Parts: sequence; C-alpha cells; structure tokens
Amino acid sequence: TIGPVTDLTIANRVIAPDGFKRSATLAGGIFPGPLIKAQKNDNFSINVVNQLQDKDMPLSTSIHWHGIHQQKTNWADGTSFITQCPIPPNRSFLHQFSAPNQTGTFWYHSHFSTQYCDGLRGPLVIYDPDDPHKDLYDVDDESTILTISDWYHDPTTVLNKIIGPVTNNSTLINGLGRYPGGPLSPLAVINVEQGKRYRFRVLGLSCDPSYNLTIDGHIMTIIEADGVETIPETVDSLPVLAGQRYSVVVHANQPVANYWVRVLPNLGNQSFTGGLNQAILRYKGAPEEDPTSSPGPSVLSFNEAKLASLMNIPAPGVPGIGKADININLLAGNVNNLFTINNVSYHNPPMPVLLQMLSGAQHPSDLLPSGSVYELPPNKVVEISIPNTGAAPGGPHPMHLHGHKFAVVRVAGNSTPNFVNPIWRDTVSMGTTVGDNVTFRFVTDNAGPWFFHCHVDFHLNNGFAAVMAEARNQLPIVSESLPDTWASLCPTDNPYTAS
Ligand code: C2O
Repeated sequence: TIGPVTDLTIANRVIAPDGFKRSATLAGGIFPGPLIKAQKNDNFSINVVNQLQDKDMPLSTSIHWHGIHQQKTNWADGTSFITQCPIPPNRSFLHQFSAPNQTGTFWYHSHFSTQYCDGLRGPLVIYDPDDPHKDLYDVDDESTILTISDWYHDPTTVLNKIIGPVTNNSTLINGLGRYPGGPLSPLAVINVEQGKRYRFRVLGLSCDPSYNLTIDGHIMTIIEADGVETIPETVDSLPVLAGQRYSVVVHANQPVANYWVRVLPNLGNQSFTGGLNQAILRYKGAPEEDPTSSPGPSVLSFNEAKLASLMNIPAPGVPGIGKADININLLAGNVNNLFTINNVSYHNPPMPVLLQMLSGAQHPSDLLPSGSVYELPPNKVVEISIPNTGAAPGGPHPMHLHGHKFAVVRVAGNSTPNFVNPIWRDTVSMGTTVGDNVTFRFVTDNAGPWFFHCHVDFHLNNGFAAVMAEARNQLPIVSESLPDTWASLCPTDNPYTAS
C-alpha cells in the first residue's frame, strides 16, 4: 500500500501469478500494482518513474488514474497522445492533482498501447473518514479489495498481431489464479469472521473479458458503482466489465467454512474445475483447504436500471431523449477488424490533442486524428447515445469517458429512460442486444480533451475510440498548473508550442 504522495516505479520483472513464468510490466514490481490509498480531499503527487528495459514489450509508458476527473488538470490524466507524450525510459513525470469530493473505488493503469495487459494496473481507493452513510451499510470492515483481471502468457507485442479475438490464459483474483493444465498455484484467500459485515471493493481490471461475480452461499448489497454511492441494491451475481468498480456489502452469516468466490468470464475458459476463475472466502476457524461449496441458484439478478445514485442527482438538462443542448449519436462499427465510431477508426495523432489545442488549432477539423475529435463548447449539457446495431463484435463493450462521471439515462436492456435519479458512473455497458441504445449525459464543465473509448484494451488498440475536446476557451485554467516537464516529454522538433 502506498499513499497519494509517492513515487510509482514502472519496471519489468518476471512473475508467475498463475504458475507460468513471464516477464511483465509492473507498477511497484508487483501484480496488481500497489494499492494507492487516499483520504477524501487529499492532494495527489505521484511521480511515475519509468525504468522499463525489456525490449520485448513497449519501453515507454503513461499512467492514467481511472475515474479521477482531473478538474482543471487535464494534463495530468496520463493518456498517451491525448493529454501527454508517453514517458520515455529513464524519465519520470510528476502528476499533481486533486480530486475534490471524490470518494470510492478507482484504479490506475497504463494508457500507452495495450501495456496494461502486460501487467501495469492497480487499485486506487479514496476513503471517506466521515462517511455520512455508514449507518446505511453497517459495515464492520472496509479493507477488502477484490481485483479481477485476465492474464496472458504472451506479451502484448505478440497478442496485438492476432486478428480477431484474443483469449486470456487465466483469470487472476487479487493477482493469483490457475490456468488449465497448469500447477496448483495458490489462490487468493479473502478472510472473514462469522457474524461480521464487510465492504468488498470489486475492481474490474480486465483487458478484455467481462466477469460475473458470485460468492457461494452469500448475497451482496451494492453500495457504490464507479465512485458513486448507490441506494443499496441486493444481488446474488454482479457483472463486472473492464474498467467498472463496485462496492458490495457481504454479511458473513453462514456456517464457518470455505466458500468459492467465482468470476465467470464471458469468453475464454469458463470452467471452475480445479480452482480456475476462483478465489476462496475463508471464515475464521475454517480449515486451510479448498472449498467444496457449490453455486446457488441466481434469484436476485442484477439490473442496472435499478441502480440509482444515493444522492438522487437528476440528469442535467431538459428531460427527454434528444433534448440536451448537444445530442450526439456514436455509431459503433467494424471494418477489416478495425473498430469504428461514426465510420472513423481512431489512431494516435502524432502529437497529443492537448498540445494541439494549446498551440491554437482553430477549428475542430484541424484537430488530429481527423474525424475522431468532437469539439464541445463549455457549460452545455451533452447527451451521447451509443446504439447497438450489432455492427461492433466482441461485446458487451464497456464504454468509458475520461474527465467525468455521467448520468446513465438509458441503460442496456431497458428502453425506459430515467432522468429523475439515474446512476452516475464512468464506464457503462453498451449491452449485447441489437436495439439497446445506451444514453448518458454530462455537463461540459471540465476543459481539455477527454478520451472516450471501449475499455476492452484490444478494441481500443484497434480504433474503438473518440476524443471529446471540451471547453477550449477555458484551457488557460489548465495551463496554469502545467509543469515544464510536460512539454519536455515530447520531441523538441514537433510543430506545436504550448502557449
Ligand atoms: Cu481506464 Cu481511458 O481508461
């Protein structure tokens, strides 16, 4: 565990989280990376130190703080080619930012190519010492972290050459797992004491699969989604897509024993035999052995339409689909294995979009990559709809917007909009059914270019992205805190000057 003021060293190390040895790209030398633990309204000062040297994988890096809004500090968002040039090896970059009033469960990961699939991902939690809703949950312990990730035996330099879907070798829970035919590598153990209630922070650190979480014999009460407190909602299974986070309350009210925690992926190996895709929930006093529990019937199914913000924050703007100040349809497609949004496949521009904007590119059409940048004026309500026409394979696609949480006014699987008390989050499923039309709203109150993309990292790498270039006339606010080191990450012979 590290604090909000820290060095974060990125280095290569050989690890075997599922019993198979490979060189990985890691934060702090471990997988997942160290928990960054902050308190509400802490200032962050994280110095990312690039010590990468394994030439079989990318040597540059940049680190994104997923879910942190970077209000006034777009430059610190850590997104290669959108908000900064990548950090070359043997260089470092200091991210100084605050997260006013943001609390809950977040994560950090590489935002350079598909580097986080090589290991560069870790949890970030902002605790609220005086959580006003503690009585609602009645939690005895909120220290449990449950990260879910896919794992690959090949480096992404190999995986990225695969045409079509990439399949993970194993699933890791808290960085431990097994692969079919592999050794009986240790599994993650989550310790509980009978009678107590726990807040489990569930993090979808996946590169690709969506996972469905169940705990044999136990139900879960959702109290947070993506850093937003929810009206408590009890389920017995929880879909966790790449990039999504939940807090759930688990009451250890069963007989003292071991229970399987199961995370069923939507692709790849879906077996639970021999500990695959599982961790152990161990009651104090239970023997140190594998559980023999079986999964219960799913009764309390998850329904995103039921998730509502505890704050009861209505969606901004005039209620009614298409009645925002700015209404944008983003049509996802796929041509020759490249994903498209409104017929354009995203590719990295030669220089970061923020640098282009600061340098004074006058027209949205000047901004590169052309066709992928949507310019948004300040202080407007923007509504984005992502109709599912079935033209983008490999769903459910988790669609993520940087710089904001958004009000999901129409969720997948339910066409009735909710403008009254929608869930606000930062990563939402596009759904799997043709006819789904996920729609969300946010206000353009945060200047800078924000990446919007599918959080399946291989899909992002194949162009499933766009850039929301927001409130250009307020960029001087961002320049105020821009450190000199920022521009020095870019080659000096580039045609732009930040002014
Ligand atoms: Cu989790 Cu573009 O990020």
